[in-house]
Amino acid sequence: MTGLERSRVLSGMRPTGRLHLGNYMGALANWVKLQREYECYFFIADYHALTTDYANTENLRWNTEEVALDWLGAGLDPERCVLFLQSAVPQHADLHLRFSMITPVSWLERVPTYKEQQENLSEKDLSTYGFLGYPLLQAADILLYQPKFVPVGQDQVVHVELTREIARRFNQFYRVGEREVLPEPQVLLTPAPKLPGTDGRKMSKSYGNTIELTDSETTVRQKLKTMVTDPARMRRTDAGDPDKCPVGDLHKVFSTPERMQEVYEGCRSAGIGCIQCKEWAADALVQVLTPIQERRASFTPAQAMEVLRAGSERAAGRAAATMREVDQAMRMPKLSAGADAAPAAVAGATR
Ligand code: TRP
Ligand code: SF4
Repeated sequence: MTGLERSRVLSGMRPTGRLHLGNYMGALANWVKLQREYECYFFIADYHALTTDYANTENLRWNTEEVALDWLGAGLDPERCVLFLQSAVPQHADLHLRFSMITPVSWLERVPTYKEQQENLSEKDLSTYGFLGYPLLQAADILLYQPKFVPVGQDQVVHVELTREIARRFNQFYRVGEREVLPEPQVLLTPAPKLPGTDGRKMSKSYGNTIELTDSETTVRQKLKTMVTDPARMRRTDAGDPDKCPVGDLHKVFSTPERMQEVYEGCRSAGIGCIQCKEWAADALVQVLTPIQERRASFTPAQAMEVLRAGSERAAGRAAATMREVDQAMRMPKLSAGADAAPAAVAGATR
């Protein structure tokens, strides 16, 4: 801690189980950088997992543990940032309920991902109230902590935009004196490098083409061996083009400029074979993964959950402060003394 006021940042991730390189490059690596400069709050969005997987919760605990371990392995430092679990901070549910009162249903139906996801995940019944309200839960996640920035990928930008609209609407109805209780946060767009999976499509758990942060060196090398390459390079003697090859894309993200040079020259002149090139790519991946795995192995699952517990306590302190202002702005009745409204005497109540 610097003691200086740092801008606050908040972001969340669903408990999808063990994270892969796409999750790392698309979010986690960026979070690790942000923790040096900002007051960071990062949480595991287990309620969000319920919005689509309510019928399938048997892996929720294990998945949460694995994500927490991957976070610690990647270098998120509980001394520098608040790492917490959404469902352990009851204020998320509370603020979500307040937002559900003030949001027209049409705003939610208009969110592009709503219809899209319902169609994409047609095997699940997503005609639920919770799934429709998902963006409000996200708005609550964010606005509870009054962050300045919300680092997210392109796919989440519409949700942060809606969060801003919800904040504006809340602030129009309710305020404490002149003060806006829920300032509008800004998107901090995470640049996501093109990261192909082993089949050449975008790396994604649902495609089964991932390289996980926990994959051993043997596994990484095995996965690389079967990775697709530039289709023009059928034989060893054919020249290829790293710009048209998923392995080339991996090199661009993980290899040094010198190695990149060797790849371009070797591939375009058929001077190197794909086997060699893939070994180099595997070398680069192993270099990234090894320190992550070593750090990960220094925590037990119980320790990782303890990090989340302690973080959730800190987060709840922050969230409770916001909710006191929300209650005050909304002029909610208060039964206990010390609230802003004139306390009513509670007959017979002694504490
Ligand atoms: N909806 C996000 C996702 O699916 C996760 C998330 C939930 C989130 N609440 C958030 C991200 C608040 C940023 C801020 O990836
Ligand atoms: Fe791809 Fe490397 Fe083979 Fe070229 S040499 S096609 S970049 S794997």
